[in-house]
This record gives sequence, structure tokens and C-alpha cells, in this order.
Amino acid sequence: MKNFLLAPSILSANFAKLGEDIKKVILAGCDMIHYDVMDNHYVSNLTMGPIILKSLKKYGISIPIDVHIMAKPVDNLIKQFIKIGVDYISFHPETSKNIYNTIQIIKKNGCKVGIAINPYTSLNCLDYIMNEIDMILIMSVNPGLEGQKFMPFILNKLNYVNKLIKKNNSNILLEVDGGVKINNISKIAKTGVDIFVFGSEIFKKNNYNKIIYKIKKKLKKIKN
Ligand code: DX5
Ligand code: ZN
Repeated sequence: MKNFLLAPSILSANFAKLGEDIKKVILAGCDMIHYDVMDNHYVSNLTMGPIILKSLKKYGISIPIDVHIMAKPVDNLIKQFIKIGVDYISFHPETSKNIYNTIQIIKKNGCKVGIAINPYTSLNCLDYIMNEIDMILIMSVNPGLEGQKFMPFILNKLNYVNKLIKKNNSNILLEVDGGVKINNISKIAKTGVDIFVFGSEIFKKNNYNKIIYKIKKKLKKIKN
């Protein structure tokens, strides 16, 4: 079986007991924590920055952190996350003055680089950076909110990116973010996705063990 990775988005967690909620999904068997940073400028929502992550680390969260930055400008925020120590940082190309420079800032301390692409954004920006990045995050909803519906046309985009990665003989991981549910995960997994972000599907359920178990059971049946 392919090594699928589950990344719960804590945007849907209970912020009043964030550390506790995260420990619960870790115990339930997730692989990394998806950390959505929104700035009320690039997207209209406002969420969390580096300070909260620092507290979570102090609280004992040591699982890989997958930071998804929806903020503009982005370089300075990235530097702050790098200082705290995270595993992946994804940014949207339109938030950077110079994509190559932003990539180098992320890479400097060994952090992995992700490029996040909105549903209606072209993939052209990948042309010159395939050798520089570790992850492609394909948004399957417009960025900014949890609990939106998966856009079905994104399945073609995921298939296309998967082929592109293979054509380049590359180890780039393909991540999908937005509207991923137990009832569409099989269809999505067949496109070649490696990392699944789940917000509402996990955190809006009472029993994280049960939902993560069910997701893994579905993924076990995928052959690719
Ligand atoms: C949306 C965020 C997502 C979101 C996913 O802008 O990037 O990570 O929290 O939530 P669901 O799974 O509920 O669509
Ligand atoms: Zn996200």
C-alpha cells in the first residue's frame, strides 16, 4: 500500500483547547498537523501566527508541522516559523515578490518547501521550480474557510500534477486541501495524492479515533 499521510487542519479544532485537541488527533494516528495561517489581507479570515505554534511546541507537540501560509507579504512570517522549527512551509506564489527568493528562505534551515495553488490559479508557475520544491499543495476550495465543498474539477488538476511529478522523476509530494471527506477520499486518492488535509471532517466529529480509523480503512483499499 502507498504511504498516504493524514494532516488534520487545526483551523477546525476547538481553539479554546487547541493543545488537547491536537494531542487527541496525534493519538488517533495522524501523521502531521496542518497549520493554516491567514492574515485578513490575502484571505479575509484571520487565524494564527508563529506565537501560537511556539506555545504548542512548549506544550509538547512534536509531530511534523505542515504550515500553510495564506498571507501577504510572506517572507518575514516564514523567517519566524523557521526560527521555531517546522517541517513544511507552503506559500501561494502570488504572495511572494520573488518566488525563488522565498523558496531559498524556507530551505535555509532544512525546512521543506511547498507551493500552494488556488483552484482557479494556473500551474504555470511550477515550470521553473520543479527542482526546488518538495511539495505541491493543490487547493480544492477557495482559501480562507473550513467546511467548504470539494470542487470536482480539481480531480483533473490533481491527475495532471501527479503526471507532471512522475514525468520529472521527482519525489515531490502531492497534497490536497479543502473539502476532503470520508465519502470522496477514495476518488481523490486515485489521482495520486500523498497528503490529505482534513479540517471539518475530523474536528467536527466527536470521536477522532473512529473517523481516522475509517479514513485509513478506505485508503487501504486504494491500489496505486
Ligand atoms: C482553507 C484551509 C484548509 C481548511 C480545510 O483555506 O487551507 O486547510 O481548513 O478544511 P476542510 O477540510 O473543512 O475543507
Ligand atoms: Zn490549508
